[in-house]
Amino acid sequence: MNKKKLIILTGAGMSAESGISTFRDSGGLWEQYNVEDVASIEGWYRNPALVHQFYNARRKQLLTAQPNMGHCGLVELEEQYDVHIITQNVDNLHERAGSTKVLHLHGELMKVRSTRNESRIYELTPDNCEVDTDTRDEYGDPVRPHIVFFGEAVPMINPAIDLVEQADILVIIGTSLNVYPAAGLVQYAHRDTPIYLIDPKPVNAPTNRNIHFIVKGAGEGVAELKNILLKQ
Ligand code: APR
Repeated sequence: MNKKKLIILTGAGMSAESGISTFRDSGGLWEQYNVEDVASIEGWYRNPALVHQFYNARRKQLLTAQPNMGHCGLVELEEQYDVHIITQNVDNLHERAGSTKVLHLHGELMKVRSTRNESRIYELTPDNCEVDTDTRDEYGDPVRPHIVFFGEAVPMINPAIDLVEQADILVIIGTSLNVYPAAGLVQYAHRDTPIYLIDPKPVNAPTNRNIHFIVKGAGEGVAELKNILLKQ
């Protein structure tokens, strides 16, 4: 029998319990940095050294982090469901936990790509992941973070829409749903598709959908989700 498709959209809150800062919570990254300077395409053209510095710091933080109970719970759901994760996160904690199908909407922290040819993508290693304006690829071209900057297109949005359209169940975890086009994905779910939303705080969720709210952090919230799904 075919497994049901469980599509999961995750945001920064998914990794909060791993010690990675969210963006818009109090004390979050966008209180400490000017988003226009470090994460926009204009900022990159203006001062690439500063942008590299910001992502080097993110990588350093990621190297000290481990997947949390939430990430691990989603791996266990693969036994019963065809689980596809669509993440806005640029960390690799879903993969490190063991999830097998992960689509990164906003890029990947541990990758860089050529500034000349965007199809040349390079995986960084934990012991060699400091990048700066002098870093060159094997063709001698400078590299940039493999990150979707604000002001750039989101190349993975169409495959993500396809997944949400096929969802038998949709789960949203740890995203404030402030950033489009990711926040608009929910609208592609079929009207009858059950939607669960795990977040300890109130979220800007669409009001035209019947959403089951699990008002908990990712770890406890995924455990509760598993209980609910097992009873079905
Ligand atoms: N478990 C689950 N959710 C949590 C937890 C937790 N322990 N702690 C905080 N949250 C929730 C917050 O309540 C909030 O709703 O995580 C959400 C984080 O929201 P944002 O900081 O806005 O992060 P996100 O929605 O992922 O941001 C989207 O914005 O800056 C860009 O490109 C960046 O991908 C990012 C995008």
